[in-house]
Amino acid sequence: MTVTFSIIKEDTQTRARAGVLHTLRGDVETPVFMPVGTQATVKTMTPREVWDLGGRLILSNTYHLYLRPGSGLVREAGGLHRFMGWPGPILTDSGGFQVFSLGPLRRIEEDGVWFRSHLDGSEHFFSPEKAMAVQEDLGSDIAMAFDQCAPYPCSYEEAREAVERTSRWALRCREAKRRSDQALFGIIQGGVHRDLREKSVRDLVAIGFPGYGIGGLSVGEPKDIMYRVLDFTVPLLPVDRPRYLMGVGSPDCLLEGVDRGVDMFDCVLPTRIARNGTVFTHRGKLVVRNAQYARDFSPLDPQCDCYACRHFTRAYIRHLIKANEVLGIRLTTLHNLHFILSLMGRIRRAILEGRFARFKEEFLARWGGE
Ligand code: GUN
Ligand code: ZN
Repeated sequence: MTVTFSIIKEDTQTRARAGVLHTLRGDVETPVFMPVGTQATVKTMTPREVWDLGGRLILSNTYHLYLRPGSGLVREAGGLHRFMGWPGPILTDSGGFQVFSLGPLRRIEEDGVWFRSHLDGSEHFFSPEKAMAVQEDLGSDIAMAFDQCAPYPCSYEEAREAVERTSRWALRCREAKRRSDQALFGIIQGGVHRDLREKSVRDLVAIGFPGYGIGGLSVGEPKDIMYRVLDFTVPLLPVDRPRYLMGVGSPDCLLEGVDRGVDMFDCVLPTRIARNGTVFTHRGKLVVRNAQYARDFSPLDPQCDCYACRHFTRAYIRHLIKANEVLGIRLTTLHNLHFILSLMGRIRRAILEGRFARFKEEFLARWGGE
């Protein structure tokens, strides 16, 4: 197997684990947060900056790179790593989720999905085979299976169809797989239904993957429902394979996910909210764009030791953002990525030292509600 997983320590009070994901481009300590580089860039950050912040595994999107610049061009460039100058491992999402998010612009058939480009309206077809071919052109270290993500809320019937199709498509992805230097992860669906999640896990584990994505969550359901689904889904998965909760990345959800046995996460949230002037602090989110910070000469987060917090004030960063100076959103992005990546590091150390439950409780008490 090209990607393997070792568990270093299992927590005794929770389902948390600390491990190492071994890839051909290096080891990645887990639990891990993957910064998102949808268009072959973690927006505003150079690869070196992402690396220096502690980013080790990044996520990119098949759908976006297929449409622009085209996966053939990326292949000609020598693959995604060379094209974007990122030396570490890359995971690519299959396009399933992005295509299903297009709403009226797409049509689902058994063979695949017809969709219109959000860029120019041109018509395209994605199938399990196509998603594999594109991800092989990109040359990511971990490819995700092409899945059908049911919306929330949706009928039981719709969720069941998504599970059954996702299982058939996962098998087709496995059969279409050609590259021996790329790992393929399956994706569990099933909405909020216990029996459907059980069926999805059964089907995918029977095919057998080196890792499993947990999809169809963080699609608008209340957080306590997501936690409940994790409570009954994660224990069904093989203990010795990494579990990846797709599209989740707020500090409270990371802690609750790790608590329930999740090893990998990705989310646009830290980088996206940074660009509209919102930052994480140990006391919750702060909208530094707001007028109340115009004369606030303290750092974004007094407890943070990132470059932005050591050198600049809320007043200055607010000024940059109000004046549309790109440095403003570079600094908020740098801070938010540091916040999340260092949180993951502290979570891992807490697991290794047998104090994860207390760490989680203390962090969440200060973090507050949302
Ligand atoms: N990203 C967030 N959720 C999902 C999902 O259910 N499927 C895929 N492919 N990507 C996701
Ligand atoms: Zn900071």
